[in-house]
Amino acid sequence: MLLIATTDGLLAGHVGIVAEPDGTAEMKRLYVRPYARGLGLGERLVRAALTTAAGLGCHTMKLVTVPGLMDSAIALYYRLGFQPMPRFGDLPLDNLLYLERCIEPLDEAAARALGAAPGQGATLPSARCRVPSSPVPATVRENGGR
Ligand SMILES: CC(C)(COP(=O)(O)OP(=O)(O)OC[C@H]1O[C@@H](n2cnc3c(N)ncnc32)[C@H](O)[C@@H]1OP(=O)(O)O)[C@@H](O)C(=O)NCCC(=O)NCCS
Repeated sequence: MLLIATTDGLLAGHVGIVAEPDGTAEMKRLYVRPYARGLGLGERLVRAALTTAAGLGCHTMKLVTVPGLMDSAIALYYRLGFQPMPRFGDLPLDNLLYLERCIEPLDEAAARALGAAPGQGATLPSARCRVPSSPVPATVRENGGR
């Protein structure tokens, strides 16, 4: 599934989510166009990915990133509670960073908006699961299949 962000009707960024049968989701292709960076849109896309994955019944979000090349993204991930995890997948590179975070359950309003059942997501919400709100006036919406 691909979520896209628009500002003033223009495509400003995107993030992909792959939901796995084991209840994990992988976040991929987080990207914000250079003109729209530093405004909190990246954070908002990650938050939207977490909420969407909760609606798909996932309890954990994981990702792989590249230290040195994607340090702004890595700072964002740590700020939002991601932590290092063991390697997964079969990427043939050693200099990668694998991160994960639990996904907090949907509250009723979020579940209604997504057409999902309330409470989907992690069964044990913790402070680590909470994602701060963002003031950016952007629209983030779904734009693709699973
Ligand atoms: C990583 C990326 C998605 C971040 O997007 P973004 O929209 O700039 O992200 P945010 O605005 O939420 O946060 C970025 C920075 O802006 C700052 N910021 C956020 N809101 C702000 C605001 N209202 N005013 C000033 N600064 C703000 C944040 O503190 C953050 O600072 P940091 O770089 O020190 O961490 C973007 O840089 C990008 O597309 N990079 C290339 C692709 C990439 O690396 N993808 C990751 C794949 S794993």
